[in-house]
Amino acid sequence: MSNVWSNLGDWITERTPGMLPMYRKHMTEYYAPKNFNLWYYFGSLALLVLVAQIITGIFLTMNYNPSAAGAFDSVQYIMRDVEWGWLIRYMHSTGASLFFIVVFLHMFRGIIYGSFKRPRELVWLLGMLIFLVLMAEAFMGYVLPWGNMSFWGAKVIISLFGTIPVIGTHLVEWIMGDFLPGDATLNRFFALHVVALPIVLLLLVVLHIAALHEVGSNNPDGVDVKHGVKGNRWSPLAPADGIPFHPYYTVKDLVGVGFLLLIAAFIIFFAPTLGGWFLEPDNSIAANNLVTPAQIKPVWYFSPFYAIVRMVPSFMDTAVWGVIAMFGSIFVLFAMPWLDRSPVKSIRYRGRGYKIALTVFVIAFLGLCAVGTDTTAEVIPAWFGDVDVTFWENLFGRLMTLLYFGFFVFLWAYTYFGWETTKPVPDRVTTHD
Ligand code: HEM
Repeated sequence: MSNVWSNLGDWITERTPGMLPMYRKHMTEYYAPKNFNLWYYFGSLALLVLVAQIITGIFLTMNYNPSAAGAFDSVQYIMRDVEWGWLIRYMHSTGASLFFIVVFLHMFRGIIYGSFKRPRELVWLLGMLIFLVLMAEAFMGYVLPWGNMSFWGAKVIISLFGTIPVIGTHLVEWIMGDFLPGDATLNRFFALHVVALPIVLLLLVVLHIAALHEVGSNNPDGVDVKHGVKGNRWSPLAPADGIPFHPYYTVKDLVGVGFLLLIAAFIIFFAPTLGGWFLEPDNSIAANNLVTPAQIKPVWYFSPFYAIVRMVPSFMDTAVWGVIAMFGSIFVLFAMPWLDRSPVKSIRYRGRGYKIALTVFVIAFLGLCAVGTDTTAEVIPAWFGDVDVTFWENLFGRLMTLLYFGFFVFLWAYTYFGWETTKPVPDRVTTHD
């Protein structure tokens, strides 16, 4: 039997001479640092979720009807009548939130270990492009079931473009293809969500990983394992602290896959809406342009950015500043490689100021998430009694917005003016044989 397999292997290799070298370059002879920790699971998990979303999405598309008259009913049909339709839909809706959890943690890993720094700036920039496309993909997907939050969410978010001077109103009509979200909007969002953006995402992910493999992975110590060929027990050409990606990290990543699937299964089977966090109650009501939901709030993963729009006050008769700040809060992340001028990559060897600032940044991000999902409107009266909720929520939200942007200003000044006292960085990664 093994002969059959090796003959088949030889037969294919003869006809695809480029494949084996490529497999070796990216798998068995890609030497990854041997000190990867828990944070390094999230890249492969993001890949897993991406594939799962595409597969479940294909099956949903088979029974979904992209029209304002039929979309909502077709989703109910998938949930009630299509064999295993409920499972496929819950896998897809849960997958969307898990995607963002995994990607946020993956990005945070990049920040704590300085993975965006030279020579990995391009890996980071491609990652940020992936993040932008992912947000567009998730937003359009959310509109497709045509529930009441789909409709009003689409209306509010697209209307943000209306604040742009001169072209705003025309831009909103151009995006919607109508004066309100309707058939035209739904059809174009369907085309983009199902065909165009997944292709762009896949392409960007391939480029992201290719760019990473050109320069090699960073690691929790932030030191270069490729520096000088020292050889190891696998190859005289291997860097001293590198181990072949396959089989070592493919096996390690499988453990992460097991955990993620367990968590996903638990949510899908026992709490598919996760108390309204993954699927909002207002979205099980059909779209109605005459009935506004009690609260128009985005899904949790958009909420920090949406909170920024709400917290920036109008000025000179225009609300465009909030929209600029919202886009700014994402675009500033693109600039990380140039804002952070510290000579040290990993948080392990960085100054105390950086650690405090990063903690404050995480608190600000979670605080904005609470404001965007309006959790603060429940917590404030519960903790402080009968008070002016709007006033305190705005004060809190504005403070969090300042702290969010303050992190980047601080980071630049702290590293540009040399205020940071770093610890000595080891020559080699700190886990030795
Ligand atoms: C669909 C989304 C994404 C997928 C499938 C993906 C996939 C991967 C994979 C497989 C790796 C190598 C394994 C690892 O280091 O964990 C990686 C590394 C990396 N990714 Fe992503 N990624 C995605 C999104 C992002 C985003 C949004 C960013 C940040 C803006 C980002 C930044 C990075 C960086 C900086 C590295 C190198 C990390 C290091 O060597 O320490 N990625 N990515």
